Amino acid sequence: MVTIKSKKEIEYMKEACKVVALTYQELEQKIKPGMTTYELDLIAESTMRKLGAIPAEKGYDIGIRGIPPYPASICVSINDEVIHGIPHKNRIIKEGDIVSIDTVALKNGFHGDAARTFMIGKVSHEAKRLVEVTKQAFFEGIKQAKAGNRLGDICHTIGEYVHSQGYSVVREFQGHGIGKEMHEDPGIPNYGKAGRGIRLEPGMTLAIEPMVIQGKPNILELEDGWTIVTEDGSLAAHYENTILITEKEPEILTIL
Ligand code: MF3
Ligand code: CO
Repeated sequence: MVTIKSKKEIEYMKEACKVVALTYQELEQKIKPGMTTYELDLIAESTMRKLGAIPAEKGYDIGIRGIPPYPASICVSINDEVIHGIPHKNRIIKEGDIVSIDTVALKNGFHGDAARTFMIGKVSHEAKRLVEVTKQAFFEGIKQAKAGNRLGDICHTIGEYVHSQGYSVVREFQGHGIGKEMHEDPGIPNYGKAGRGIRLEPGMTLAIEPMVIQGKPNILELEDGWTIVTEDGSLAAHYENTILITEKEPEILTIL
């Protein structure tokens, strides 16, 4: 069921999303070569808690038998890791890496969700282009995020843009509605047909999240039950914001 948020609920959504934006502000300032992914996790968790929010990924159970609840406050996926990388005390970030972080705050019963890919020091020209295209794919997609348009208009636009740049989109994971639940209807694939899917209405809150691979779209899951990597070892990037559909242009809630 796709939920339409009331005025009050939209205020709560905005608060949760602001926590996520501030968390990325903090991470962007602090992320440096030599740091561990565990340290990034601690920064995110303490920032959220200081702001009266709970890191919603910690303990999150996707409800698939055999997959343990998620153990950390952020997902951190480096280079050929696409999404859901688990922070570790022995995983060190290096100059030239691209580091995708995805995190969710829960405040007043509502969720805010966003992802960023950080470039560490000087990265290759190709890595930089991948990161920029992934971010731009989100902005291309939300040009279609208008009341009266169809969900497929967003999905199609993202997929076409990514392909036009010579890259692939991940097919097995998608964006989603968001609110009282981290993952609500509708699912929002990063590809699809224009003119298809539900009609967008004011009050819908959606997490739009292009996951882009430099090479072939195929992915693998590591034995930890979480980390997703590219099959061909090529680089991947992720960019996500929670948005609000309005009568006019969409509002991006996870950017300050
Ligand atoms: N934040 C992710 C998303 O964008 C979900 C991560 S799964 C979790 O939808 F287990 F880490 F929470
Ligand atoms: Co999401």
